[in-house]
Amino acid sequence: MLQPNPHIIGLTPCIHGGVNSRELIERGLNPDNMRDFSISCNPFGLPENIRASLNELPAELYPDSDSYDLVEALSGKLCVSTGNIIVCNGSTELIRLAIIAYLSRQDKSLILQPTYGDYELACRQFNTGVVYYQLNEDNNFLINVDALIKSAELHRPKAMFICNPNNPTGQYLPIEKVQRIASIFNQTLIILDEAYIAFTRNSDNALKLIDMPNVLLCRSMTKDFALAGLRLGYGLASSEIINNLKKSRPPWNVNSAAQQAGIAALMCDEYLAESTAGIFEAKQYLVDELSAMGLNVIPSQTNYFLVKVGNAAKFRETLLREGFAVRDCTSFGLRQYVRIAPRAIEDCRELIKAIKKIRTMPACKHDS
Ligand SMILES: Cc1ncc(COP(=O)(O)O)c(C=O)c1O
Repeated sequence: MLQPNPHIIGLTPCIHGGVNSRELIERGLNPDNMRDFSISCNPFGLPENIRASLNELPAELYPDSDSYDLVEALSGKLCVSTGNIIVCNGSTELIRLAIIAYLSRQDKSLILQPTYGDYELACRQFNTGVVYYQLNEDNNFLINVDALIKSAELHRPKAMFICNPNNPTGQYLPIEKVQRIASIFNQTLIILDEAYIAFTRNSDNALKLIDMPNVLLCRSMTKDFALAGLRLGYGLASSEIINNLKKSRPPWNVNSAAQQAGIAALMCDEYLAESTAGIFEAKQYLVDELSAMGLNVIPSQTNYFLVKVGNAAKFRETLLREGFAVRDCTSFGLRQYVRIAPRAIEDCRELIKAIKKIRTMPACKHDS
């Protein structure tokens, strides 16, 4: 029998938020009636001008492999030169380009745990090593930079993934601390994933880090503008890093619809500000209500947060039957936590009613 590469055999897909229609249909539930708090994209949907930009798509032409118009638009918006920018098919692709360009089989990446599961999957897909730095529940999963530095001194990783704010904990590491890490480990590629930065309160401007020769800033426009069906991300780094990533990418990596949507999205500052205000109002309501129920909510600076509910898988399953999806964090190694990303306040009120209801169901006690 034809055998794949041995390192591929044991791989399992990364688990993500979002509702899976098949899973719901198997349970006799209607996907259209599900309110999805498990996905952390902008809950207010696609801005109208982005939708309009998709009406005249040159679908018969290959997309520009350099996404040049979008790169130029990003350059103007961020005041970063075009040579420091690469556009990708979501930041997921950027993570893989970084691995292709910089890591080989004998190299290791340092991954903080719990975090976004795709870093590890990507490393394993390319048969490169992984070592972990464990965050601690007792201090709300805050990063202890001195301990992280010790761990990196021990392992000497070729790359370090820092998700900022971290998914799923919502904790943000100030940029001066990232800068400290990057200057100590100047032979390590620091992959700073800012997928949720647009929704993060009290964050710093990380752009100054792209002057460093070993920092790759990854951003996702998928989240900010609810472009999950198109997917779009971009990387910012020194021109050397960007050139190496460009050599590693497949041709036509970003489809024309995503490129056009990205250009339109850069004119949506007001939409983003309004959405963020709506998200934070809804988040405060949820945090207050959940805390009043005696549930432990982990402080978060962004558009999702962790809640300790007992048996997370059972909690999610019971809520699904009430028409609400939350993210069971078992796949992050957090069997007692769910992650909730706020939606419009009316939906949040209904979610709280449903949580109150399921907590009174004797057969559905979630404490374990
Ligand atoms: C931390 C983090 N980074 C990157 C991604 C991937 O986003 P994109 O759609 O830009 O590939 C996700 C998606 O959930 C994420 O949570």
